[in-house]
Amino acid sequence: AEAQTVATRKWQVPFGAALRSGPLANEADYRSVFAAYCDQVVSEGGLKWFDLRPSIERFDFSEGDRYLAFAQANRMLLRGHTLVWHGALPPWAEAIDSAAIAEREMVRHIETVVGHYRGKIANWDVVNEAIADDPKTAPGLRDGLWLRQLGPRYIALAFRTAAKADPGAKLILNDYDIEFVGDRFRRKREAFLRLIRSLRADNVPLHGVGLQGHLSENQIDQAGLTAFASEVKAMGLEFMVTELDVVDNKMPGPPELRDMVVAARVHDFLGAIFAAIRPSAVLTWGITDKYSWVPIYFKRGDGLPNRPLPFDVHYKPKPMMQVIEHFC
Ligand code: XIL
Repeated sequence: AEAQTVATRKWQVPFGAALRSGPLANEADYRSVFAAYCDQVVSEGGLKWFDLRPSIERFDFSEGDRYLAFAQANRMLLRGHTLVWHGALPPWAEAIDSAAIAEREMVRHIETVVGHYRGKIANWDVVNEAIADDPKTAPGLRDGLWLRQLGPRYIALAFRTAAKADPGAKLILNDYDIEFVGDRFRRKREAFLRLIRSLRADNVPLHGVGLQGHLSENQIDQAGLTAFASEVKAMGLEFMVTELDVVDNKMPGPPELRDMVVAARVHDFLGAIFAAIRPSAVLTWGITDKYSWVPIYFKRGDGLPNRPLPFDVHYKPKPMMQVIEHFC
């Protein structure tokens, strides 16, 4: 089927999506949908340590450079994901067992990568997923290499290093699972705000907050999310949606019905955010159901296809896209 690429890109709020290298190289329909709809793109992989740091001494920018070339050719802004994360570390980094080496490699990584893309990647997820999934006691930071080796100070160090390497880049703190109804999500939301406030108090160069937006069968806590976005706005920070999709493995029903539930969930989510703040961008985590992490990590048990993204496998826009067009 041919892609229905009605050129829009007349967004009030910039819209974008995560890119993958395979279809970017091999599928014209894939490229056309991005070109027609996206003001911004982000790399789904390629700029993670696993891809950039095959060994301790080598940096491999080949994949990231391909995303940059595509973004520049189409006059899109490229976001960088992600400089410091507990995940997607190569084995040699997982094995780091001293604070001195952890600090040296984290700083060198940020200086080298942000330096390589200085003036070209406008916006970085500097620290990703810093908050624990169920933070019962303060500060509620997630366990991982960087926290274990460096303690909570790794976060401020990452932001300060990134700001030095590219003073023009917007530096984002990105996290997830703060938008749902339930105590665990409320505690995570509070811990996230606590961290943002303490970075502000310490004059850390933080410019914005990213909310991933991996939605699911969970109800959106609209009042809680609006209050959160209002706090972010009151601090003078930007707010962006960085990885929107709907993990639908626990949502019942045939695809057409599920598409409506998925769209309604996105409506609740964006509605609660836009009630408080105009986000600086909304990005989905992929653009077509054909290429998504959801069927890999959250495969349905009933044999029916997952439908997590704004376009179906034939690049036909789904109700979720209409909701995005309504808000953005
Ligand atoms: C996921 C990618 O989509 C997968 O292809 C990869 O194998 C694992 O990572 N939160 C994040 C993203 O910040 O980096 C993750 O991306 C999805 C969850």
